[in-house]
Amino acid sequence: MSSKGVAPRIVIGVSGGIAAFKAVSVVRLWKKAGWQVQVLATPAALGLVGKTTWEAISGNPVYTEITQDVAHGAHVELAREADAFLVLPATANTIAKLAMGMADNMLTATALVATCPKIIAPAMHTQMWEHPATRRNLSTLQTDGWQVISPVSGELTSGDSGMGRLPEPEEIFSQAKQLIGSQSATADSNPEACPKLKGKRVIITAGGTSEPIDPVRVLTNLSTGTQGIELAKTAKALGAEVELIYSTISVPLPAGIKATYAGSARDLLSLLEARWDQTDVLVMAAAVADWRPAEVATQKMKKGQADTLTLELVRNPDILATLGKKPRGNKILVGFAAETAQGEAALSLAREKVAKKRVDLLALNQVGSGKGFGNVENQLFFLDFNGQLLGQSQGSKATVSQALWQQVNDLIAEKESI
Ligand SMILES: Cc1cc2nc3c(=O)[nH]c(=O)nc-3n(C[C@H](O)[C@H](O)[C@H](O)COP(=O)(O)O)c2cc1C
Repeated sequence: MSSKGVAPRIVIGVSGGIAAFKAVSVVRLWKKAGWQVQVLATPAALGLVGKTTWEAISGNPVYTEITQDVAHGAHVELAREADAFLVLPATANTIAKLAMGMADNMLTATALVATCPKIIAPAMHTQMWEHPATRRNLSTLQTDGWQVISPVSGELTSGDSGMGRLPEPEEIFSQAKQLIGSQSATADSNPEACPKLKGKRVIITAGGTSEPIDPVRVLTNLSTGTQGIELAKTAKALGAEVELIYSTISVPLPAGIKATYAGSARDLLSLLEARWDQTDVLVMAAAVADWRPAEVATQKMKKGQADTLTLELVRNPDILATLGKKPRGNKILVGFAAETAQGEAALSLAREKVAKKRVDLLALNQVGSGKGFGNVENQLFFLDFNGQLLGQSQGSKATVSQALWQQVNDLIAEKESI
């Protein structure tokens, strides 16, 4: 029950994406969970799933145009009554309008008034998803406080497959519930413990890069982005000015943190080079592919009659080593080493990496089956510029994040005192 003494109310804004049919099941799931559901469908959404369906499933009238129910000031009333606002599927068009603060239909106007937790679940063709305009608009929405349920990679209606597919209704429901209920995971972060981070311009990279093979296939890895996202949330709670640069991830982006998408290793490097002069701390938690296909096919590769396929791979640029060679000043460069080796063997690989990449701090992360990837406990070993073991931290990804920022804080203090 909401604080208003009645069943909690969610406003579900549906825009004109082909995945609108999945929103019908999401409405049902909220109803089953005892929520009142108010659907706001754009005219394009009604072209895909009719008003009758929404009204029958939600048990409430559907609003589309800003001129409906003017006597009650519907968009203001609906926004005030809402305990949560969820837009799904969010089209590139609606995302652009929300980012601009436009208010030309009931969905966009109500969103502009609502102060409750706001969540957006984009879905679109990969090219639309990767377009710089969409990336910019989503980043603006996150800075404005929207939380994003990231699309997944999979089959798209065009017959292509790639990033941009709306997750299944149960997944959306569960992620949205978690986001609505979530307190900041780092609410107990103590800014006093890391005073040097306050106001620092911090970039954290997260997720696994994706290296195109053809217009619908990529080479990627098992990184989920969870650790990088926890680092970003903790840094924000510690008072840093944070930008998260993410590649393929399978967890929601954090609310209120500027987030920029970079698909491949080369995309990531050019973004980081462009940001370098304005960055105080860079933490490279992304899992960057060492290799990429030598040629990217311009058309979807056909399987033909062959039983085997040989892909020629070429080396990707080494991002840490490239940035490590740049004039550093008081900047702090932090690397991650994900190793499947254990104990001394892992430490020795990590020391080699420190020497090769010239990082100020290296976090050694042992990964493998059931270890390191996703929402599991993590263990980080911290090594300094000379490969000396500074300490270790074990626990949730939020706990080890706090420990990493403590190390960064101490390094900043050391550099500033010289
Ligand atoms: C069959 C069909 C499916 C579409 N699917 C999508 C989609 O998944 N994502 C998207 O961003 N746009 C999609 N579009 C384009 C949008 O409907 C179009 O940009 C429209 O202007 C969106 O308006 P709205 O954002 O106000 O709902 C689709 C269009 C059609 C005709």
